[in-house]
Amino acid sequence: MDLAKLKAGLKKDFISSSSSEDLQKLKVKYFGKKGKITNLSKQLGKLDIKQRPKAGKKINELKLLFEVLNKSASQKIEKKELETAISKEQIDVSLPVDSDYIGGLHPITRTIEKICSYFSAKGYLIEDGPEIESEYYNFDALNIPQDHPARDMHDTFYLDSGKLLRTHTSPVQIHAIEKHKVPLKILCPGKVYRSDSDPTHTPMFHQVEGLLIDESVNFGNLKKELIDFLNYFFDKNLQVRFRPSYFPFTEPSAEVDIMDKKGWLEIMGCGMVHPNVLEMSGIDSKKYSGFAFGLGIERMAKLDFSINDMRVLFENDLKAISGK
Ligand code: DAH
Repeated sequence: MDLAKLKAGLKKDFISSSSSEDLQKLKVKYFGKKGKITNLSKQLGKLDIKQRPKAGKKINELKLLFEVLNKSASQKIEKKELETAISKEQIDVSLPVDSDYIGGLHPITRTIEKICSYFSAKGYLIEDGPEIESEYYNFDALNIPQDHPARDMHDTFYLDSGKLLRTHTSPVQIHAIEKHKVPLKILCPGKVYRSDSDPTHTPMFHQVEGLLIDESVNFGNLKKELIDFLNYFFDKNLQVRFRPSYFPFTEPSAEVDIMDKKGWLEIMGCGMVHPNVLEMSGIDSKKYSGFAFGLGIERMAKLDFSINDMRVLFENDLKAISGK
């Protein structure tokens, strides 16, 4: 048994090992069942009894050498392996993000923004109004007195305080007149509430109200404003029709329809501001006239985003509402 050769081989083996697996293999090579040091220990029994202590000592020295070399090699290797693992785990913050998962605005918000930016560019002030209203603003000031049948049609949510949740954005017309006086041009998007819930109605929905008051405003001005807007919104030359209708706060009143794939589609209400509404807010109806319009945002969003079922707009299915 050439111990010197074995010792030299052992040292060489440790120098050339560079991974934990290499070290594992060395353990097997020297201490496995047929390992080199194991074999030496086995041969010990066959030696002359006098020779045994000396040989045993040599083998122990070898074992010790293995341990020392193994310890320093494994410390070096562990350190190196940790460093490579850390460098691999580094996150490159300059990499572009996966654009499929970028968040987005809800179709209702996008529709409101589209309408507001159009009218805002035409000089309309974007107004805000309270969702909790008094009967005066929601009804009386809009020429809908206490016993008017139109009150029943609004399915109003009344609050214990005697106030109510606004049933339409039209009360903002009155707030705006009080705040800005006339002439004025305002647009107000917002939430409205009606005690109504079925597949095509939700208790909360969105409207946009428009109001323009000036000297000598006429129905022709209203028609042009709305036709221009609808052509812009749907980005095509639409067939538009003004159908006589009734709203207590406008006279004359009309319903605006557009030609859709399936035929005429009602899109909004409008009309010339009723003189009673102007007078109740202290405006001389002989000098001033105006037009108003109100449209449902959900319907516009459905058409613009090709959404068939209105409930999709209120359920947070990201695939369904991320459209366009
Ligand atoms: N406020 C009406 C509604 O909720 C919509 C409306 C119709 C608003 C005609 C208007 C208008 O300003 O002129 O059904």
